[in-house]
Amino acid sequence: MAKERLTFTSSWDEFDLQTDIVMIAVGTPAKTNGEANTHYVEEAARSIAERLQDGAQYTVVVKSTVPIGTNRRVEHIIRRTLQERGVNAKVFVASNPEFLREGWALYDCFYPDRIIIGAEDPEAVEMMRRLYRPLLEQTFEPFEGIPRREESGLPPLITTDPVSAEMIKYAANAFLALKISFINEIAGLCEKVGSDVTEVARGIGLDSRIGPRFLNAGIGWGGSCFPKDTAALLAVGKEHNYEMPIVEAARKVNELQRLRVVERLQSLLKGVRGRTIGVLGLAFKPHTDDVRESPALDIIRILVERGAHVRAHDPVAMDNARAALTDEELQEVTFVHDPHNVADGAHALLLATEWPQYRMLDLLTMAQRMAFPLVLDGRNMFRVEDVEKAGITYVGVGK
Ligand code: UGA
Repeated sequence: MAKERLTFTSSWDEFDLQTDIVMIAVGTPAKTNGEANTHYVEEAARSIAERLQDGAQYTVVVKSTVPIGTNRRVEHIIRRTLQERGVNAKVFVASNPEFLREGWALYDCFYPDRIIIGAEDPEAVEMMRRLYRPLLEQTFEPFEGIPRREESGLPPLITTDPVSAEMIKYAANAFLALKISFINEIAGLCEKVGSDVTEVARGIGLDSRIGPRFLNAGIGWGGSCFPKDTAALLAVGKEHNYEMPIVEAARKVNELQRLRVVERLQSLLKGVRGRTIGVLGLAFKPHTDDVRESPALDIIRILVERGAHVRAHDPVAMDNARAALTDEELQEVTFVHDPHNVADGAHALLLATEWPQYRMLDLLTMAQRMAFPLVLDGRNMFRVEDVEKAGITYVGVGK
């Protein structure tokens, strides 16, 4: 059992240095200028080097999402610390970015699309290849509740230099973010010309060069990764005096998306001041209680600022939402434990997070409790027929 071979400690004195590989997976929070703060990564590197003994051979793996050049810096810190201590140890540094989605960490870990190793030294690459062999060859027994991914072949191992590995992580997240912003921009035009963005996304997504995923139009992207990593990428560009208008535009479209939702409500309700808006979902995406950079919260803030009252529900994220809003904002937000209750006296419902359980809502009952029967489906999740059957006007994104 893996459980028997796992130990946890928060003390360096109990940290087992008799290993071949140590992974640094600490946070790299954003600084006020958007740059990623590598302080914790550097601290970890220093702490490791302070404990290495003469003759040790070690591979230090940087898993944290770090700005370009951080692996070089980690290597420098380790070498300098060893030198200062007069210790002669052989240390390799490898970059090994992760591509796990929040809520899907185990699945994405066992069935990765690819594994990226950025290292200069062939010995470090070999060490990492050995570590990942069960995943690369998919020879492990699937774990309960995490069945093998059907369509997946064997994940390729991409070996490259550390700087390219660091760039792969940022470029992947920036590309996914801009794919969503792109479809959101198209959605805005769909609304103007009378086309349906879900049909458009299906039509373009079937082109294998484009691919169908991350083309769901909605109220925009949030979370702890896309906003932070696109800002960090721009900060790297700035450091090199290099403009990145595409990444900037992806962020701008994402910001505008929140405003556009409120403006749509304003135009449908002839103003939101004094109106009650029911908000379904607060987390930045379903299956998490994370509200960091959540579009739902941003929209609530704008609504409150413009004089609306909000009734909000989320299956798991209400405590975090409460903690994230200011006291002033909280005066205008009522949290309800039964999602049906967001409808009480509401002039509109906004579906902000596509929790699957919202598909089961009794829309008829909700319609009866509303002051004005209108649904703005911010994630295009409801079936239009179901909403309209309940006597509610349906408005989707890009429809
Ligand atoms: C993202 C990436 O998907 C992971 O590959 C990466 O490892 C991770 O960031 C990270 O850097 O740690 P995550 O932030 O958990 O993962 O969330 P996603 O599932 O990617 O969703 C991000 C946001 O995009 C959510 O707000 C979601 O609602 C939105 N989204 C996603 C859309 O609006 N439309 C889509 O089609 C897909």
